[in-house]
Amino acid sequence: MTVIDVRGLTHHFSQNIARGDARDILVLTDLTFSVMEGEFVAIVGPSGCGKSTLLRILSGLIHPTGGDAFIKGHKILDSNLSAYMPQRDLLLPWLNVRKNAMLGAKLAGVNEKEIQSKLPQLFKQFGLDGFQESWPSQLSGGMRQRLALLRTFLIPRDIILLDEPFGSLDAITRRDMHDWLQGVLDSEQRSVLLVTHDVDEALMLADRVLVMTNRPGKILKEVRVEFSRPRSMKTLTLPKFTELKESLLDTLARA
Ligand SMILES: Nc1ncnc2c1ncn2[C@@H]1O[C@H](COP(=O)(O)OP(=O)(O)OP(=O)(O)O)[C@@H](O)[C@H]1O
Ligand SMILES: [Mg+2]
Repeated sequence: MTVIDVRGLTHHFSQNIARGDARDILVLTDLTFSVMEGEFVAIVGPSGCGKSTLLRILSGLIHPTGGDAFIKGHKILDSNLSAYMPQRDLLLPWLNVRKNAMLGAKLAGVNEKEIQSKLPQLFKQFGLDGFQESWPSQLSGGMRQRLALLRTFLIPRDIILLDEPFGSLDAITRRDMHDWLQGVLDSEQRSVLLVTHDVDEALMLADRVLVMTNRPGKILKEVRVEFSRPRSMKTLTLPKFTELKESLLDTLARA
């Protein structure tokens, strides 16, 4: 079953510039792809090509100016169909870590007791144990990002949209999070659309990698990644991995 279906999506923004003048910028053009149930798809592309705009459209935050996007056959009109982690963590400074973690699930209507029961285990898994009552301002950049990811996974949706979720993590924590994510997805059957700048990360996690062109963004190339799971550091050393990586980097250089 197709869970995300994007057909000929186009989006332009009107930007205010000096002296009250406005200019239109075309961000996405004729973008077409789909994600199947249980599939993990990664999107890589040059900075500014419209990746975050695409996820914001899929989460229902902005309406595209052209084309169609469907989640599970429904035209996207609100953000209730997926769990979305924005590029900036958007933690609320006036709520402590525990309350920030619960926010998305609460808004999605999950009973508070049910959320509370899952928290201790998740805080351990995300390396945030002991910080439940801290304020977001007392966390490091990487901890904030892990908290935003934890919050996203608590939202009971089987489609997850992640915008550079590991961007400010160090290499070792990033690897741990990759292992963790693979473990969770092994047991939970969620469909994931991940935006990343990191080609290694895309090849480590995804079933398919889509490469976008420079703005206005559209899909330039699709690469199927067929390494068995769970993937580990060893996967990075396979000749096929190097081959796929070179092909992706080469496409990106021409994007
Ligand atoms: N709300 C907005 N109003 C006007 N222009 C916008 C808005 N949001 C994004 N843009 C423009 O759309 C283009 C794409 O932005 P977007 O954030 O989608 O890129 P991106 O691919 O996610 O980049 P990065 O990899 O740097 O995160 C940029 O040129 C940006 O200036
Ligand atoms: Mg972005």
